[in-house]
Amino acid sequence: MIRTPICELFGIKYPIFQGGMAWVADASLAAAVSNAGGLGIIAGMNSNGEQLRAEIRKCREMTSKPFGVNVMLMSPFVDEVAHTVVEEHVSILTTGAGNPGKYMPAWLEAGIRVVPVVASIGFARLAEKRGACAVIAEGAESGGHIGKLHTMALVPQICDAVKIPVLAAGGIGDGRGVAAALMLGAQGVQVGTRFLVAKECTISQTYKDKVIKASELDTVVTGESLGDAVRSLKTPFSREFEKKEHEADISREELEKFGAGALRRAAREGDAQNGCFLAGEIAGLIKKEQSAKEMIEEIFGEAEKVLGGADQWVK
Ligand SMILES: Cc1cc2nc3c(=O)[nH]c(=O)nc-3n(C[C@H](O)[C@H](O)[C@H](O)COP(=O)(O)O)c2cc1C
Repeated sequence: MIRTPICELFGIKYPIFQGGMAWVADASLAAAVSNAGGLGIIAGMNSNGEQLRAEIRKCREMTSKPFGVNVMLMSPFVDEVAHTVVEEHVSILTTGAGNPGKYMPAWLEAGIRVVPVVASIGFARLAEKRGACAVIAEGAESGGHIGKLHTMALVPQICDAVKIPVLAAGGIGDGRGVAAALMLGAQGVQVGTRFLVAKECTISQTYKDKVIKASELDTVVTGESLGDAVRSLKTPFSREFEKKEHEADISREELEKFGAGALRRAAREGDAQNGCFLAGEIAGLIKKEQSAKEMIEEIFGEAEKVLGGADQWVK
């Protein structure tokens, strides 16, 4: 049994968070992960305050276990969402794509444990100073918005830089990834891409099939010219975005307009032509749909085996 201080801190059996994923991580997925002993997280990105409130209440009906909400700081509804989580007495928050500093005092006063996703040492230190109880160090292998450093280099440097616990994210899809993360000094992991194909994940079957069929070379990073790099599967949409991004006369507004709604089209409509299918490099390792419980038990069974044999090279 693998247990770390993260388990006590968040009241979970296994030290694993399911990443908050816009248009993907709804009450169904979050409750399934929490019921399986991980920390399920509802994505706040695609909701206004009232939509998020409904999803939180739905999740409470589906699980009595702890779950969290991800507040995406670039959301147009971020102020509303930041308020709703307090009103709804959400006890654990993760934050993505920015600095949650503005909201921290109110969240801490409400007794919320806040875990920002960070991609640099500076940001991790700032989060610790502002009262975060842990950070998620997310490497650029990850699906969705990414930073510059990769997990292998980022995680140990962040572990050395802060005293609060660190969870590793980006490129973790099985027990070997969990074992490696623990060896790098992390006390837990956050997994996104693998949970895309959880049976309880309500995204389109087209999306799941694309993840399952993906090879190790099938993701691409776009949006770097906007200062907003995003990793997704190679599709007609991503190829078109990449082409447009390199056109000399295209404006930021035109590019943003072209990208608007693309994740929703992928996740909710299964639009293979015009959808943006966010996924990480680990997609190549993912070969089948399973329940969240099967995934988590398999991942930690493998991790135990790997860690049990970890001293085989030590003579
Ligand atoms: C489809 C998708 C949507 C995502 N949306 C968000 C989001 O709204 N907020 C956030 O903080 N992270 C988001 N992420 C990142 C995940 O929460 C998680 O940190 C990441 O997927 C971990 O890396 P992995 O994909 O290699 O497992 C998203 C990732 C994916 C694949």
